[in-house]
Parts: sequence; structure tokens; C-alpha cells
Amino acid sequence: TDLAHIRNFSIVAHIDHGKSTLADRLIQATGTVAQRDMKEQMLDSMDIERERGITIKANTVRLNYRAKDGQDYILNLIDTPGHVDFAYEVSRSMRAVEGSLLVVDASQGVEAQTLANVYQALDAGHDIVPVLNKIDLPAAEPERVRAQIEDVIGLDASDSVLISAKSGIGIPDVLEAIVTRLPAPKGDRDAPLKAMLVDSWYDAYLGVVVMIRVIDGVIKKGDRIRMMATNAAYGIDKLAVLRPQMVDIPELGPGEIGIFTASIKQVRDTRVGDTVTHERKPCDAPLPGFKPAQPVVFCGLFPVDANDFETLRDAIEKLALNDASFSTEMETSAALGFGFRCGFLGLLHLEVIRERLEREFDLDLITTAPSVVYHLHMKDGEVRDLHNPADMPDLTYVDHIEEPRIKATIMVPDEYLGDILKLCQDRRGIQQNLTYAGSRAMVEYDLPLNEVVFDFYDRLKSVTKGYASFDYTISEYREDFLVKMSILVNDEPVDALSMMVHRDRAEMRGRGMVEKLKELIPRHMFKIPIQAAIGGRVIARETLSAMRKDVTAKCYGGDATRKKKLLEKQKEGKKKMRQFGKVEIPQTAFINALKMD
Ligand code: GTP
Repeated sequence: TDLAHIRNFSIVAHIDHGKSTLADRLIQATGTVAQRDMKEQMLDSMDIERERGITIKANTVRLNYRAKDGQDYILNLIDTPGHVDFAYEVSRSMRAVEGSLLVVDASQGVEAQTLANVYQALDAGHDIVPVLNKIDLPAAEPERVRAQIEDVIGLDASDSVLISAKSGIGIPDVLEAIVTRLPAPKGDRDAPLKAMLVDSWYDAYLGVVVMIRVIDGVIKKGDRIRMMATNAAYGIDKLAVLRPQMVDIPELGPGEIGIFTASIKQVRDTRVGDTVTHERKPCDAPLPGFKPAQPVVFCGLFPVDANDFETLRDAIEKLALNDASFSTEMETSAALGFGFRCGFLGLLHLEVIRERLEREFDLDLITTAPSVVYHLHMKDGEVRDLHNPADMPDLTYVDHIEEPRIKATIMVPDEYLGDILKLCQDRRGIQQNLTYAGSRAMVEYDLPLNEVVFDFYDRLKSVTKGYASFDYTISEYREDFLVKMSILVNDEPVDALSMMVHRDRAEMRGRGMVEKLKELIPRHMFKIPIQAAIGGRVIARETLSAMRKDVTAKCYGGDATRKKKLLEKQKEGKKKMRQFGKVEIPQTAFINALKMD
């Protein structure tokens, strides 16, 4: 296909503003998928994605469209992940296309992720077509939202396309706008091959599948190619486009987007953002700006039942094969036994992986406190990364500690602004900016990432009844007065509960933790002290009193099945307990103790 008849685009939107629904409509309206095969959210394939309604991996689809000018076009839609954890993937997929549809829910208006994503699109040099969705809703205010897009983002929204992705209103206008308002790609067919690795994933039948966008040159089946960052060479086995199922194709030229397989062993061998070229006649320079995604949040994953360790190991290996940004390392904990220290792109990434382990591999897991990566500046000049508070060396060797900070953008209705400012202030935030867009405030905060990884997002949602939106980027590492706080139960340190905290917040966190643990740990036959300590100094203490002898469980009569059920339930409960010295701590205590109020 000649370049003039190709359009490559992505859809940027805040979660729930209708990106997937619009993608479905475009697939349907161009007859890409037969009506009878159409199901909702064609592009979201994983179960968790479907259930939570969030898009995690980038996906793509190629549409054939005959425009009003009578000409046939190829439209390549790259679906980008909508969540902050996957910002790096978003930025790469944005660079693979020339334009974006900016979808804004006309009943909601611009949200934090609308901003974050549209800035990424602008950074990537995109032309942008604003699309106001959900105009079928009585609460839709397209005029207000149009003005908001102009005020807040600074985009001309006068010729926004008004649609209802749900009922199908305006879909033909979207297709025409893609052809007439987004630019055709540029590229040189005769130049050496230069293609961007946009995404890769593991397919049970095909092995590793690599998605590329060809910039210059032509790639054909059977070609020998080289990945410039890893320097590995492969032969192309299969070349295809996604419609959205794979359709083989003999070659991909400039401006085109497709997938290949090449007997690549693991997804880890492919780096998003890498440059793919020919082995024999390579391009002279790789595409600029390549950097591998770095995990920013770490936590320990341990099986509740030590016998499940092998299952956990296999499961983690399987998931890691398909996720280059998920890092893992064996870990042993005095209290929890054998497990893994895992690194994630963010909290959602952590949650998704944990859920997949529990669901797909039927594992019961203990997750230790999530920790960010600290930079320890040692007195001898060495700089160490600290992924695990348990590895904190003796303070006498440490000169100072730096922690990662974020730039957070929060959009919130006026009436909740006070609560948000308080929340951010409580989390050691420094206010940077405060502006208004209609009745919504937009606040920017400089916050320590470690104050955000626990439950910031949950708190934000609860204090604003779900009306606030939040997005962040990591800004820098900065020195602060950070200490390791340990938790002792019955005088035994529980390493899984130790954490890095700011010195000024240690008493408060410590008190909160011991009070919670007192509630969460069942009484035993003896008195149990629960303490928080920094170094050897106890900063908070509670005592769980002993169980009184006469309140032992009564045996009830009743039918046998009920008794059996009761016994099974107790067994189940046992499984979710861990032994610490003489004390049994339920699994839920670990998770709940870490939540802050
Ligand atoms: P993520 O995948 O989580 O980023 O969400 P999304 O932006 O893809 O949103 P999605 O398409 O899943 O739509 C979110 C919700 O809005 C769904 O319940 C849709 O049915 C609904 N929705 C989408 N478009 C419209 C519309 O035009 N009108 C109405 N009334 N509802 C819509």
C-alpha cells in the first residue's frame, strides 16, 4: 500500500470514557469482524482485563476503510494501556503512530489520565482529533467539555466529533476524521530496514510474537533480522497483520504495522522500543530514546503453605516469560520461609500479577509491604539500591538515604479539594500548583513514592467518593530522613512487616501498625507484646491479653454435614495462618496491617 492510503492512530482516554467501546464500533463499522463473531471489547483479551475493564497490554487492529473520497485506506489502530504503571509502553506505542483520537466522556469531562495521555500524544508529535463520547446520556454537556478541552489542554476543540460509542451515533464521522484530519505516515521503501518493536507477548501456539511498526525499508518472511539493543539475530518465520486475528502477509513496508514470529525463546529477549533491522544490510542508527522499563515497586511473595513453593516458582517463571518488566529473585525470610522478591512497574502491575498467581495457579500468597527502591549513599562513597527493608545495613555505614519522588496530578470537584490537600499534606506532599477548570480543581503535588504505594489511591477514591482522578510520573531521587521500622510480635521480629518510613512519621505509622495487629492477631493462651522499633528503640507498643480458659469453643450438636463444613472451614482458616515463634498470625493481618487510615 502506498503511504498516502495508510493512517496509523491510537485512542487516548481516561479509564471508562469509552475507548474500548469505540474500538469495537470501528472494527464493526469497517466490517473487519463478521457481525456474528463480534463480542464486546474485542481488543481486551485477558480475563482480568475484562473483569476490571482496564486495558493492560497494547493491542492493535488493522481496518480496511473505503472513504467518502472513494479511495481505500488501511487504518491501523494501536490500543494503548490506560494506566500510569504502563506509561512507558504508552509512550512507545504512541511513537509508532502519527495521530490520536482524544476520547472524552461528555458527561464527565477531562480527567487526570486524559491529561497524562494527551501530553504523551503531543510529545510524540501527534495530530489529535477530539471526540466527545456518550452524547446519548442526559448528563452530557458537550459544549462545556469542548471549552474545557480548550482551556485545560489548549487544543482547538471547535470541530470535535460528537459520538455515542454505545449506540453508534457519529461513528462514520470518526472514520472520515481519521482519513481527512490525521496525517499519512512517511518513510523510504528503498532505505535499509528500520522498524520499531512496539510490543511482544507469548502465544501458546506460536511462542513469542513481536509487534513492529516499519519506519523505512521492507520486511519479508524468511528475512534475517537483528534487534539492535540485544544484538540478537533471528529468521522471520511468520509475518502477519492483526484483524484482530492474525492474517499472514508476504511483506510489511514503510508505515505498516504488523507482527512476526522468529523462534524467539522468551519475551524477555525482546525489548519494547528496540530497533529491528536486517542482519546483512542494517540501518546506520537505532531509533532514539530507547530505555528498558524499570521496576519501581518491590514486594515479597510467599506461599502460605510452604509446600506450594515449587508451584509458585513455576508460576512466576511462566508469568515472567511473558512480561519483561516483571523482575524476580529468590528470597528467604526468617518468618515466611522461601519465596520471591518481585519488582513491578507500579501498584496495579503488582496487583495484576498477584491476582493471576492466585487465580490461574491456585496459590495462596502472602504479600509483604510494597517498598520502593531507595538509594543508600554509604560512608565509603558506594551507592547501593535497596529493594527490601530487610536488607537495610547497619546505619553506622550509611551516610544518607535518597527516595524516589513523584509529580502527581489530581483532578477533583471543588467540594473535595480540602480533603485532597489534607491527604497529600499528610503524605509529605509539597503543593506545586493549583488551577481550576470549571468546577474542577487541578492540583499538582510533589510526593514521595513510598507514601503513595500503600493505599493512596484507595484513600483518594474514598475521600472523594470516586470523583477524583490521579496520575503521576517519577521525577527524581531526593534525600530525606528515612529509617527502618521493625515490628516485633512476642519479641520476635517479623521481617515481612518491616518497612522504611520517614522519621517524623515513624511513631504514627508504628502506633497504627501495632494497634491494628492487636485487632488482627487472635488471642492465644498467653500474653503477646506487639512492638514497633527503630534500631533497638521501641516507639510503640500494645499487649494482646491472654485468652480466658472458660471461653474455649463449645461443641455443638447438629447434623454431620454442618459439622464437616465447620471443620473444613477451620482447616481453611489454618491454612491462612503463619507461625511466628509461638504465635500464629493470619495471612490477612499482613495485608491489613499495612493499610493506613
Ligand atoms: P478502559 O478499558 O478501562 O480504559 O475503559 P474504556 O475507556 O475502554 O471504556 P469502555 O469502552 O470499557 O467503556 C466504559 C463504560 O462506558 C462501559 O460501561 C460502556 O458501556 C460505557 N460507554 C461507552 N461508550 C458509551 C456511550 O457512548 N454512551 C453510554 N451511555 N455509555 C458508554
